[in-house]
Amino acid sequence: MTTRYADRFQQKDAVAFYDAAEYGAESYSARVWQWQRPVLENLVKDFCAAQAGPVRLLDFACGTGRVLSVLAPLVAAADGVDISENMVAVARGKCPQARLLVGDVLAEPDLLQPEYDLISCFRFVLNAEPGLRGRVLRRLRQALRAPDGRLLVNVHGNSRSLRHPALAWRCWRERGGNTDTMLNEMSPAEARRLLAESGFEIVRQFGFGLLPPTLYRTPLRRAAAAVDRAFAGENFLRNCSIDLLFVCRPC
Ligand SMILES: C[S@@+](CC[C@H](N)C(=O)[O-])C[C@H]1O[C@@H](n2cnc3c(N)ncnc32)[C@H](O)[C@@H]1O
Repeated sequence: MTTRYADRFQQKDAVAFYDAAEYGAESYSARVWQWQRPVLENLVKDFCAAQAGPVRLLDFACGTGRVLSVLAPLVAAADGVDISENMVAVARGKCPQARLLVGDVLAEPDLLQPEYDLISCFRFVLNAEPGLRGRVLRRLRQALRAPDGRLLVNVHGNSRSLRHPALAWRCWRERGGNTDTMLNEMSPAEARRLLAESGFEIVRQFGFGLLPPTLYRTPLRRAAAAVDRAFAGENFLRNCSIDLLFVCRPC
């Protein structure tokens, strides 16, 4: 049986796994975040410096506050929203400056203020059901101040990256086994199309992680880290990176 993405992080064991294992000290996700975090901080600092007034940020699907805890201190006001009370319970401890909301932004129209300057949305789009992605992005588009507001959104499984062969192997191995495993992928072109259909124009694109994550479980991990660190960011290989970060403006 397949779990709805909205239900995936409702239980306390899934919440504990997210912080302790998905973002455990030696995990691949923690490595990507190490490269991505300074880029994101600089994007938000530069955005704030260019604004005449105070900046209001929303972190959509804030989860346990991984991204929100870093961005909230950089802006005048920060909100986080998520559908899982248990994820938000952890975020409350990490994000003392932020206002945290629990609910479904599609079912509860009053949940979102209409005028955010910045909206961040991390590790949601890829795993959300295809029909949900556009509906949520369009709702976020309504909540973003036009024309100057910016959406910072990532897709953490590029199908045109070297993650793909490893994923194909895992799919093959698990065929007939656990069908509940999330094995989603999206190409840069598919991400661009989805964002355009949802009312966003991409103004910048960054990429993180070129080499297959499995290399980090071998003696080559130090060399892999050096290569991935060198090519993290906004460069000519970004369309081949595993984790894609887009800066978008409403159009
Ligand atoms: C993988 S976690 C990412 C959390 C955080 N953005 C991060 O990057 O660490 C995905 C989050 O999306 C939330 N989520 C799933 N469906 C949602 C929905 N329809 N509305 C709001 N949040 C949702 C989950 O509860 C979960 O906290």
